[in-house]
Amino acid sequence: MFSTRPSIIRGIAALTSRTTSQVHKVHSSQAAMAAVKVGDQLPVSDLYEDSPANKVNVCDLTAGKRVVLFAVPGAFTPGCSKTHLPGYIQNAEKLKSEGVDEIVCVSVNDPYVMAAWGAQHNTKGKIRMLADPSGAFIKALDLGITLPPLGGFRAKRFSMVITDSKITELNVEPDGTGLSCSLADKLKIKK
Ligand code: BEZ
Repeated sequence: MFSTRPSIIRGIAALTSRTTSQVHKVHSSQAAMAAVKVGDQLPVSDLYEDSPANKVNVCDLTAGKRVVLFAVPGAFTPGCSKTHLPGYIQNAEKLKSEGVDEIVCVSVNDPYVMAAWGAQHNTKGKIRMLADPSGAFIKALDLGITLPPLGGFRAKRFSMVITDSKITELNVEPDGTGLSCSLADKLKIKK
């Protein structure tokens, strides 16, 4: 019996033992994944501070608070070390005077690496250096990027303001790694 389905769809369906409609369903569910936007609730996720034993739940961290969270492609990389992180250190007091309770730096790195990077920049008391070792938080935000020279999956460079666990400002670098809209002095903290 001849099939009227296009051969490519027949091939995919045969390979996966799914019917054509099931294959289409898989595609539409993948297409539904979209980056978070202003107004969205933060996804439930755990980050790590200093060691794998010290879990920080993102909802606990942000409930009832105003938090500035910025993400970097990698600890110790030149752009993150020379520009992105130092800008937040320099602006930490000003941001806190504007009503920000916590400033958090996130990277898809292990917690020891984040701690060592923070120690090098003397971030204690200014910025919390939180690790997303598996990238689960960044994947849930759909703000990841594949950077083979850094080992694969990483965070895009972005900043966000979180008000009581809801995203109220979001600045994602258009090319994923540039140093423009996500810099500390570009934040517009609304009272
Ligand atoms: C940086 O220097 O920030 C950087 C280096 C390589 C890839 C992404 C970012």
